[in-house]
Amino acid sequence: MTGRPLTGTMGANMAARPVVAILTLGCKLNLADSEEIARSLQAAGFATVDRVCEAEAFVVNTCSVTHVADAKSRRLVRSVRRLAPEARVAVTGCFPQSTGEAAAFALGADFVAGTRDADKAALVEFLSANLPSRNATQPAPGTNAPRPVGSAHARAFVKAQEGCNDVCAFCIVPQTRGREESRTVVRVVAEVQAAVESGAREVVVTGTQLGAWGRDLAEPQKPYQLIAQILEQTDVVRLRFSSLQPQDISPELLALWEDPRLMPHFHLALQSGSDSILQRMRRRYSAHGFLLAAERIRAVSPDAAITTDVIAGFPGETDEQFEETLKLCREVGFARIHCFPYSPRTRTAAARMLNRVSAEVTRERMGRLTALNDELSARFRSRFLGTVRPVLWETERQSEDGPQWFGHTDNYIGVYALGHALRNRLTPTLLNGLYHDGMTGACPPEES
Ligand code: F3S
Repeated sequence: MTGRPLTGTMGANMAARPVVAILTLGCKLNLADSEEIARSLQAAGFATVDRVCEAEAFVVNTCSVTHVADAKSRRLVRSVRRLAPEARVAVTGCFPQSTGEAAAFALGADFVAGTRDADKAALVEFLSANLPSRNATQPAPGTNAPRPVGSAHARAFVKAQEGCNDVCAFCIVPQTRGREESRTVVRVVAEVQAAVESGAREVVVTGTQLGAWGRDLAEPQKPYQLIAQILEQTDVVRLRFSSLQPQDISPELLALWEDPRLMPHFHLALQSGSDSILQRMRRRYSAHGFLLAAERIRAVSPDAAITTDVIAGFPGETDEQFEETLKLCREVGFARIHCFPYSPRTRTAAARMLNRVSAEVTRERMGRLTALNDELSARFRSRFLGTVRPVLWETERQSEDGPQWFGHTDNYIGVYALGHALRNRLTPTLLNGLYHDGMTGACPPEES
């Protein structure tokens, strides 16, 4: 599940209204969808939480990017059904979109919907009709603002764009998210500002294919124009752009990173470092183009984290081609590699390719990629040992040594600190050790 558990308790205002638990799998775009669902439900008089608890209804917002994601979606719906046999269970998102409604109903869902705005409206209608005890005349405060679902108000996710017109050979997302559709500058700016006013210190702008933002608008625009307007027209303290492709890394875009409110973190999905595999995947860049984009980023933002996704075992991938991927990963020096074994998705071009890589070879390549990720990630984090970086503290959990706080640096290193309450504070923090896949930080002084 993407969202971390909230540790707070329900306020009195919340307890008086029927509770809907929204559970999110998948990517940041899905988190943005969950936040939109939460806002619509709050406006209709429901209270929402992002964890399993005693709730009248559950919304399971699913993912279908791989067969593992399908299995997780199925498991979560089944376990919610088992835990709360009396509750209404709604299944939304990419899983029913790719496998069909029937598969979701077969798991015990009472309501099934996809990924579009009309689906969210139908969900609210369904719950309103089926949980009529809500007090619709008293919506929760701040219902117009993107309420951070996963991190107790520290970060909010705002969707700028939906859908993808590229047809990458392995990818099911164009089927689950449809054609490209950009939201206007006015709408995105308003949502970012509303998130800030509701208390979010950091806003993450998301989309299925963010680099395509603006090309379908009546007056076509580029993503850098959207970012510039967000910086100019809102009071956002920290802004992240969730993911881009190497061909989107233009001088106009990078020039904006002079503004310290734009976080030095770029997620560029590589998928493979072999040109012939990239061509067969129908990606629109070469290995060299990817490297140039990374170099351009480093030239303007030397401390930036560049993170990526890589697929091991794409049909026909040879040992040599896989070695090219490892080599390119080293050359770029990624801060994190999300490694995926190739997963055939129905109705995609790659699923019809006959030269499958065996499960054993794919497993072995996954092991090597994971080891490389561990090495490169540790190398990246080690560079910042003993330095002070701004950390936005997001969540708290209990550890053996007491309350442990978790947050991210500007360049997306996860930082853990023991000590007093830090939620939603943005503090200069001394990074004093490597810890799991992040670092430990010295607990900053209490606010006076
Ligand atoms: Fe999963 Fe859909 Fe996101 S398939 S990765 S939730 S776009």
